[in-house]
Amino acid sequence: MEFLDTLKARHSVRAFDSKPVPEALLQQILQEAALSPSWSNTHPYRLALATGPVLESLRTELYSRFQRTIALQRGGKLKQLTGLLTRDPGIPDGDVKPVVNYPKDLQGRRVECGKGLYGVLGVKRDDLKARDQAMAENFRLFGAPAAVFLFVHEGVGIYSALDAGIYLQSLMLAATNAGLGSCAQGALGLFRSPLDKHFEIPKQYKLLCGVALGYELDVPVNKFQPEKIAARELLLPAKTMR
Ligand SMILES: Cc1cc2nc3c(=O)[nH]c(=O)nc-3n(C[C@H](O)[C@H](O)[C@H](O)COP(=O)(O)O)c2cc1C
Repeated sequence: MEFLDTLKARHSVRAFDSKPVPEALLQQILQEAALSPSWSNTHPYRLALATGPVLESLRTELYSRFQRTIALQRGGKLKQLTGLLTRDPGIPDGDVKPVVNYPKDLQGRRVECGKGLYGVLGVKRDDLKARDQAMAENFRLFGAPAAVFLFVHEGVGIYSALDAGIYLQSLMLAATNAGLGSCAQGALGLFRSPLDKHFEIPKQYKLLCGVALGYELDVPVNKFQPEKIAARELLLPAKTMR
């Protein structure tokens, strides 16, 4: 694909065909994404590629743990406290603290995105159960036959996330170019211990997020196109010199 076509064609896919992706194709896009730049060429991130029985095991465990998370969330303060004390599997054990209170200045775009997504899913804003269910689909990886989990080196702080972000975009573009759909998933940063069961993850590498990969289903949720931001909104106004 031409670069601009690829850039425009990439979009978040939230419903996948179960058809497996050939291992060679997955390795190819991981290698293409490794063309990404990184600070001092260090690539301070590592990847866990899950397919087949490992992915099925993760899907089952992540989904059931998130169902417990919902039960705790909806069960009130006492239930949450008991959950904490009893080490309930619904209590997140991810490395990065999830954002609970979104900054006010970002909230508008976040709400618009959520509204649009729930709109195509036919989920009403006040239907908590349906919203929880839509969120829970993250933990089934939206049915994807492959997933990559990204871990960043804690030793270089926020810069490892910067480099991993560059890799993530390259990976999603390489996937698009190869005819694959993808969805970056911050939600997959919620639980680390299920990944420790299946992969040798050095302690200094912290789980950041996941990305679902596979063949896109032709369904409305995959047609959802949140409005892109205008570059002028990103540009800071210059101060006038006196
Ligand atoms: C780092 C990152 C984390 C994300 N986490 C999630 C997620 O947990 N669940 C989800 O459905 N989408 C997630 N997304 C997808 C965004 O919602 C999506 O990129 C955004 O709405 C723009 O839509 P587009 O990807 O179709 O262009 C994430 C995207 C990024 C870059």
